Amino acid sequence: MTSPITTERHGDVLVIISNNPPVNALGAAVRQGLEAGLKEAAADEAIKAVVIRCDGKTFFAGADITEFGRPMQEPGLPTVIDMIESSEKPVIAAIHGTALGGGCEVTLGCHYRIAVPSAKIGTPEVKLGLLPGAGGTQRIPRVAGVALALEMTAKGDPISAARAMTAGLIDRLAGENSLAADAIAFAREVASVRPLPRASEKTAEADPEAVAAFKKENAKRFRGFDAPAANIACVEKATDGSTFAEGIAFERQEFMKLMMGVQSAAQRHLFFAERQAAKIDGIDPAIALRPIKKVGVIGAGTMGGGISMNFLSAGIPVTIVEMQQEALDRGTGVIRKNYEASAAKGRLKPEQVALAMGALTPTLNLEDLADCDLVIEAVYESMDVKKELFGKLDKIVKQGAILASNTSYLNIDEIAASTSRPQDVLGMHFFSPANVMKLLEVVRGAKTADDVLATVMALAKTIKKVAVVSGVCHGFIGNRMLMPRQVEANKLLMEGATPEQIDRVHVEFGMPMGPFQMSDLAGVDIGWHRDETRIESIRDALCAEGRWGQKKSAGFYDYDEKRNPSPSPRVAEIIEDFRSRSNLPRREITDEEIIERTLYTMVNEGALILEEKMAQRASDIDVVWIYGYGWPVYRGGPMFWADTEGAKKIVAGLEKHGFKVAELLKSNAESGGRFK
Ligand code: 3HC
Repeated sequence: MTSPITTERHGDVLVIISNNPPVNALGAAVRQGLEAGLKEAAADEAIKAVVIRCDGKTFFAGADITEFGRPMQEPGLPTVIDMIESSEKPVIAAIHGTALGGGCEVTLGCHYRIAVPSAKIGTPEVKLGLLPGAGGTQRIPRVAGVALALEMTAKGDPISAARAMTAGLIDRLAGENSLAADAIAFAREVASVRPLPRASEKTAEADPEAVAAFKKENAKRFRGFDAPAANIACVEKATDGSTFAEGIAFERQEFMKLMMGVQSAAQRHLFFAERQAAKIDGIDPAIALRPIKKVGVIGAGTMGGGISMNFLSAGIPVTIVEMQQEALDRGTGVIRKNYEASAAKGRLKPEQVALAMGALTPTLNLEDLADCDLVIEAVYESMDVKKELFGKLDKIVKQGAILASNTSYLNIDEIAASTSRPQDVLGMHFFSPANVMKLLEVVRGAKTADDVLATVMALAKTIKKVAVVSGVCHGFIGNRMLMPRQVEANKLLMEGATPEQIDRVHVEFGMPMGPFQMSDLAGVDIGWHRDETRIESIRDALCAEGRWGQKKSAGFYDYDEKRNPSPSPRVAEIIEDFRSRSNLPRREITDEEIIERTLYTMVNEGALILEEKMAQRASDIDVVWIYGYGWPVYRGGPMFWADTEGAKKIVAGLEKHGFKVAELLKSNAESGGRFK
């Protein structure tokens, strides 16, 4: 096998070049090649300096994540980086694209760093439940100080070349198109400068105030995760008077702990799950896509407005249609207000706001959608309304355009059948707020053409969504799994649990909120029959009393003027009343029972979804629940979590409460297998 590393001699400079597509991950062959290149440079007296650079779209984007959890082949990355740093000849990192994780750590082992202005540098290991394990936590604070080291390691977002330069992480900027030559020139310039600047030989000042402030500021963001605290501890170790070697030993120990833990396994699972979700089984990835240059959105309400913003922000013009001028004005006003709020926070420039708003065409006329390449309907959730609308669109919109429904439950095949072109119809289920939430469920109808599905999946990436393909079933993947959870949560109330207890169990599990908090936020009255005299459930009773949730300052909880919730004595009375009328004895409900009945049932539904082939793979379900409903990332999604709990335990929990267990779950329990 040819090595991904080659060397080139440019007079007295040896250039070590990596070519390991797609992202120059630092796998075993790359590490071995780097080691050989460094030895070549050391052995040749004519060589006075070394440049390390990468071909392709990026500098090393990190360790090869696929190697994690398997026996590590020598040399390890820390060994290679130590070799670089201890070289007697200056080594210069020439950076383009993204120098991430181990890639960033390679640059810090080098004596000098030169980068193109568009380059980015970062240590995103925390997002994989890890920490920079090749000296990053010890070298970054020594070069750039504690505050930036905390931000880079514990939050994991990359920084720009300009910022890295100010912080000392980059010494020089190269021309955008002349990195290779500029790096060689830089190497010659510093070839005879001694002593060599070595990051490990610098000292970092302790900054307990910065650490305390950082922890406080990010407490909510870090809740439940193990890795941020470990990153912080390592950065502190770099400044507590320990030697570099002691710091490295501590870093290694913490890295291995995280690597062996279930959280990192879950987060690594998500990394690949997210990328896998974009792949459509049975469709050639090279299939020709339909061009989408203009989008139509029907409905300027919360959903339609949010959906439009996704395209406007990506530079795709949108025609938005409403039935009444007032609703149209209100909708476009909200879009403008949202953009202006982002600009006020410095996230957008005023000219970007102007550009986005300039690409929006509001209209009352459906005929104006004739030349759109994609039309997304976001109107009232009624099959009759949608069928009528799609019938009209069929007559108006040009042939070859894609017609999409944003329905969250309804049958896409039935909607498609109201047109003469069901092959061009699919579901695009956005999550509210649609301009913020990352998930997009793309619903593939029985007749949806392959190129239509592939086009929309690719478009999802353009508008920065994580898209998952779902089959046609009630509620698709996400909302379908929500149903058993809600049914059981309601039954648990009748049997003796309180909304507070059920919600607490979910929040402690890591969800952003529990089922009743979610109900209060979304509106208890959503889907209510609106007949105040027809009281058949606890929810009917709440709605009849105007307890519609946060918007009315009363729902399953009471709310003060700042929307702080407190347990409601009135709700307790309503529940008690229902219970006694149903002759149900009140009993103690354990937290364990709540988990079994609300979360195990979701896993069971997920297994049915897989059996019915409504999801392409188990990891797609995980992506849906993480990006659409806030399932804790460190638990890897419901199906990954079920595997870590063990199918046997889940089956036993379900059977204990008399649930019918999905065959797939049963067979996993029998064989010890995992969801695929
Ligand atoms: N290891 C193995 N494979 C990787 C990888 C890595 N570090 N980074 C990306 N890939 C793979 C992806 O799985 C994907 O494979 P696929 O085509 O088969 O699905 C392919 O490379 C392309 O990746 P993207 O689709 O993500 O490409 P983008 O161009 O959108 O993004 C990127 C490029 C910004 C580099 C992004 O891939 C990324 O963020 N990668 C991960 C970076 C990272 O986390 N680095 C730290 C690794 S841990 C580490 O270094 C430990 C050390 O401290 C010891």
